[in-house]
Amino acid sequence: MLTDTKKMFEDAFKGGYAIGAFNVNNMEIIQGIIGGCAEKKSPVIIQVSAGARKYANPIYLRKLIEAANEEHPEIPIAMHLDHGADFEICKQCVDNGFTSVMIDGSHHEFEENVKLTKEVVDYAHSKGVVVEAELGKLEGVEDDVKVASGEGSYTDPDQAVEFVERTGVDSLAIAIGTSHGAFKFKGDPKLDFERLEVISSKLPEGYPIVLHGASTVIPEFVELCNKYGGDIPGAKGVPEEMISKAAKMAVCKVNIDTDLRLAMTGVIRKEFMENPSNFDPRKYLGPARTAIQEMVMHKLDVLGNINHL
Ligand code: G3H
Ligand code: 13P
Ligand code: ZN
Repeated sequence: MLTDTKKMFEDAFKGGYAIGAFNVNNMEIIQGIIGGCAEKKSPVIIQVSAGARKYANPIYLRKLIEAANEEHPEIPIAMHLDHGADFEICKQCVDNGFTSVMIDGSHHEFEENVKLTKEVVDYAHSKGVVVEAELGKLEGVEDDVKVASGEGSYTDPDQAVEFVERTGVDSLAIAIGTSHGAFKFKGDPKLDFERLEVISSKLPEGYPIVLHGASTVIPEFVELCNKYGGDIPGAKGVPEEMISKAAKMAVCKVNIDTDLRLAMTGVIRKEFMENPSNFDPRKYLGPARTAIQEMVMHKLDVLGNINHL
């Protein structure tokens, strides 16, 4: 069933697990995700970025997510806008059946972020849609916004409390050391769990925290890409133990895109190299879809999100 994230987060917080929020760009990715969630009996957030909307046309993605819902009505699915840049894109999604939107004002000054987020919250709540916002700055690349290494900033706990109180936002993405993309750490991976603990202790009991940039960049899949002609040296993500630890704390939503990209790309590269005479897209998109499904099932294990329907 298409639903907002309220009950998902409530259950996840109580149960000490997190909901996987997976980025989608086409049919095979959506089918792989929903197939994985059906196997593991897991509620899910299917999220669409501005880049995905531009690539696929928002109508197609919405209809594909609706198709997933029709195929698996037993799975709670939140249809979510990832990194909405302004009021207009959030409004469009709210008006078009999304059950959840993110307004990302993290690159603005605090007061401007509060104002923009509150505006989206007021509109979304009037239509029964929940809102995620972000405070603090993640490093890395998302759409056209690039935050250079060293220019990110961790979320301030007192500001987080003030931000949530003044905006009424339903969940908050925080910066504690994760970043978008495949190159998250130069040295040893490190997350500021103490900051996460302080932030959640200052927020109301059960308030859902969101972790962006949470892919693990699993070495096996980087190697698969590189073995078959890829060139992704030095890729490194957030170790799975850290993701599991965050999921047991107040983190209720974990965003994953890069791990799906690597799985899909690795398998397609392998198919191309091993079967050069094939030119039937089903012969490489099919295995790619299976790889997405397997990756999603693995992620759901790491998040502790199994048997929760
Ligand atoms: O936050 C970034 C997500 O990985 C989405 O990436 O903006 O290239 O679709 P994208
Ligand atoms: P990754 O790049 O770590 O998969 O993060 C995705 C994300 O945060 C989408 O909003
Ligand atoms: Zn993100």
